[in-house]
Amino acid sequence: MNAIKKSYIETFGCQMNERDSEIMGQVLSNADYIPTEDIKQADVIVLNTCSIRDKAEQKVYSLLGTLKKLKAKKPALIISVAGCVAQQEGKRLLTRMPQVDIVLGPQQIYRLSELVSKAVAMGKQQLAVNLSSSFEIPRHIPPSPVKSSEDEQTATASFKKVVTIMQGCNNFCTYCVVPYTRGRETSRPHDDIIAEITVLANQGVKEVTLLGQNVNSYGRTNDSTLQHITFPELLRNVAKIKGIKRLRFSTSNPKDLSPELIKCFAEIENLCPHFHLPVQSGSNHILKRMNRKYSIEEYLAKVKALRHIRPDIVLTTDIIVGFPGETDEDFQATMDLLETVRYQGAYSFKYSDRPQAKSVAFDDKVDEQIKSERLHRLQEKQKSINLQENQKYEGSIQSVMIEGESKNTDGQWKGRTMSNIIVNFDGSALSPGQEVQVKITEGLPHSLRGTLV
Ligand code: 5AD
Ligand code: SF4
Repeated sequence: MNAIKKSYIETFGCQMNERDSEIMGQVLSNADYIPTEDIKQADVIVLNTCSIRDKAEQKVYSLLGTLKKLKAKKPALIISVAGCVAQQEGKRLLTRMPQVDIVLGPQQIYRLSELVSKAVAMGKQQLAVNLSSSFEIPRHIPPSPVKSSEDEQTATASFKKVVTIMQGCNNFCTYCVVPYTRGRETSRPHDDIIAEITVLANQGVKEVTLLGQNVNSYGRTNDSTLQHITFPELLRNVAKIKGIKRLRFSTSNPKDLSPELIKCFAEIENLCPHFHLPVQSGSNHILKRMNRKYSIEEYLAKVKALRHIRPDIVLTTDIIVGFPGETDEDFQATMDLLETVRYQGAYSFKYSDRPQAKSVAFDDKVDEQIKSERLHRLQEKQKSINLQENQKYEGSIQSVMIEGESKNTDGQWKGRTMSNIIVNFDGSALSPGQEVQVKITEGLPHSLRGTLV
C-alpha cells in the first residue's frame, strides 16, 4: 500500500504569488498529494518566492538554511523553489543550494507535478525557468478549489477567490524586477475567465478579485484569434455572473486608468468602492526617473474624477522612499501628497536595488539611514491620516462580509466593508461569507470596531 503523500507550500510576496501557490496546490493534488500545514510531514515542499525587495529575498534564503537540516534527516524530501527568486537566480540557486531539487519560474508552475516525478525518478535536480515572450496562460487551469485536506481549510477560502486575468508586465519601471521575472504581458481569454468565475459562483463564491500586474491593460494577448475585450468590458461581464456580490481588482498603473474604468464605479453595483492606485512618489522629477509615465497633476486629476463619480471610494497606494536622486524636496512632495489625497492605507518601502532593474546603475543612491528616517516619518504621518479617515466612519452602518472569527479576541468576528476596511465586532452563530450590518463605534489606524445591528 502506498503511503499518503503530502505537500507543503509557503508563499512569499504578492497576491499573484498567492494565486500561483493555489494553482500549484491544485496541480499537486491532481497528482495525489494532500496538503499539510506541518512542514515536517511533507514529502514535497514548495517555497513560492518573491524578489520585489531584497528583504523578501533574504527570508527565502534563511528558510532554505533550515530546510537543509530537514532534508539531512529525510533524504527523500523534495524541495522546490518557485516564483520570482527562482526565475531570477535559475541555475545559480541549484548550485548554491544543493538541498534544492527543483527550481521553477512563474510561467512554469503548471509543470510542477511533472518536475516532481522527474526529480523523484531520476534523483537529479530539475530546472524550469524558460521565460517566453509568447507565453499564454494555459486554458485548462486545474479545477478550484483543491481537494479537501486533512488539515482544516479556512472557510474564508471558500467564499472569496482570486482569479488571474493577465500576467506579466510591459511597463519597465526602472526600479522593478517584475518584467524580468514574470515576462511580457499576456491576458487570459475572456471566455475562460467567465467560465472559471461561473463555476466558482456555483460553488458558493461570493467575492472575486480579478488579478493582474496591470489589469488596466487587459486585452493584450499573443493569440490573434481571440476577441479583443477591454478591462471595463470584462468587469461588466463578470459583475453579471449570478451570485457574485463583491467584485474587486488588483493592481493598476495610474497611467492606464481610463475614463471608461472610472465610469464603472458609478454603474456597476457590485464593484467594490476601493481602488489601489500605486503612486510611488509625489515628485515629478522622481516619477520621471522611475519611468512611471504620469505626472502628479495627471494622477491627482484621476483621483478627483474617481471621487467625483464615487464619493465613498477608498484609495490606497504604494510608496517607495529613497529612490536614487530623491532630495529632501522630493520627499517633502510625497509627504504633501499624503495630505492632499488622504489615502486610507499606504504600503511604503525603502528603495532597494534589484538585479536587472535599470535603477541599479543610477549613481546618486540615497544613504541607508536617510531612507530609514524618511520611511519612519512617512509611516507616522500615514498612520495618523488612516486614523482620522477611519474615525469618519464612527456612527455609520456598514455592510460587512464576514471572514471568520477574530484570532486575537474571543467572541469577536472579523469582516470587511465593501471598501475593504477590516471590521471587528461581537457576535455569535455567524458564518464566513455572510453579510451583516454593523454599526461602527470606533475607528482605529488599521481597522474599525462595531456592533451588530
Ligand atoms: N525597492 C523598493 N520597493 C519596491 N517596489 C517595487 N520594487 C521596489 C524596489 N526595488 C514596491 C513598489 C510596488 C510594490 C509592490 O513594491 O511600491 O508597487
Ligand atoms: Fe514579488 Fe513582484 Fe514576483 Fe509578485 S510579481 S512575487 S511582487 S517580484
